[in-house]
Amino acid sequence: MEQLQNKIEAYKLEAGTENVADAKALEDFRIKWLGTKGIVKEIMGEMKNVAPENKKQAGQLLNEFKVFIEQKYTDLKANAGEAGDQAGQTIDLSLPGDDLPIGSRHPVTLMRNRIVSIFQRLGFAVAEGPEIEDDWHNFGALNLPEHHPARDMQDTFYIQQNPAFLLRTHTSNVQIREMEKGVLPIRGIYPGRVYRNETVSARSHCFFHQVEGLYIDENVSFADLKQTLYFFVKEMYGKDVKVRFRPSYFPFTEPSAEMDVSCFICGGEGCSVCKKTGWVEILGCGMVHPNVLSNCGIDPNKYSGFAFGMGIERPAMLKYGINDIRLFSENDVRFLKQFTSAI
Ligand code: PHE
Repeated sequence: MEQLQNKIEAYKLEAGTENVADAKALEDFRIKWLGTKGIVKEIMGEMKNVAPENKKQAGQLLNEFKVFIEQKYTDLKANAGEAGDQAGQTIDLSLPGDDLPIGSRHPVTLMRNRIVSIFQRLGFAVAEGPEIEDDWHNFGALNLPEHHPARDMQDTFYIQQNPAFLLRTHTSNVQIREMEKGVLPIRGIYPGRVYRNETVSARSHCFFHQVEGLYIDENVSFADLKQTLYFFVKEMYGKDVKVRFRPSYFPFTEPSAEMDVSCFICGGEGCSVCKKTGWVEILGCGMVHPNVLSNCGIDPNKYSGFAFGMGIERPAMLKYGINDIRLFSENDVRFLKQFTSAI
């Protein structure tokens, strides 16, 4: 039995080091090891000399050995195959290369970059913040105390293990985080993804993207807010577009307004995009509420500021004629590859 074991080990070592350079050597290997008069057959024959009580163990060993050699043969064959292919192949260097499709920017990214770059030209600096946020930075500091009915305007998703954390409903959390740093003046633009507990449909989704802006300094007035947004609208929608502000309510700004632009599809005459009103709502804005400044350690008697916030999907849908907001997140290449041009 021991003798048989030693013999098998020696054969394994020998077979392990074998190598073949071509098909002929491969065939020689097969004949030597697996042929009808080959080593595997021969050693199998030794079973008859094994004592009955050892037969089972010997059978196992021999079987293992056979599998080992067969595997080695398969490996050598694969290698020899590759070598053979290379040897037999002539490469036509004049053929064109394989097409490597280059990706394109997502329409939401294109629109975000466009909005952000207009404000960057006015000296606004980009900052980002966490999408999983604590209650204070998303609501509390923004003058939205717990149980305040205004929280209903932005129903969100809470984190089950710890409801003190939630998915931010707006990028206003970045405003708070920037103000908390205490470095003034602030002129910032804050793009990012936000979440709301809304029924998913062609017009609304449970997540979307926003750009918010913040300007805090001494003597900032509503006139500064209007002038900044006028500039934005002219750059974004063209010189002929008209602007109007409607009084509105946000807990974190006072006074607050909603800004509309004259419909850039129909020129203000009334169409399905503006729902025959001639106006399209594009953002919310206002003067930062003194409570918000105090919450962030900024003296409201010395400093004032304005803030604004807008969605990205809606203007992108208008710009590209996309009729379903869900398309943005379905990752369908047929949809995504249509937006290769820079805007
Ligand atoms: N955070 C508001 C929203 O998401 C937008 C906004 C920002 C309004 C700043 C006014 C001032 O609805």
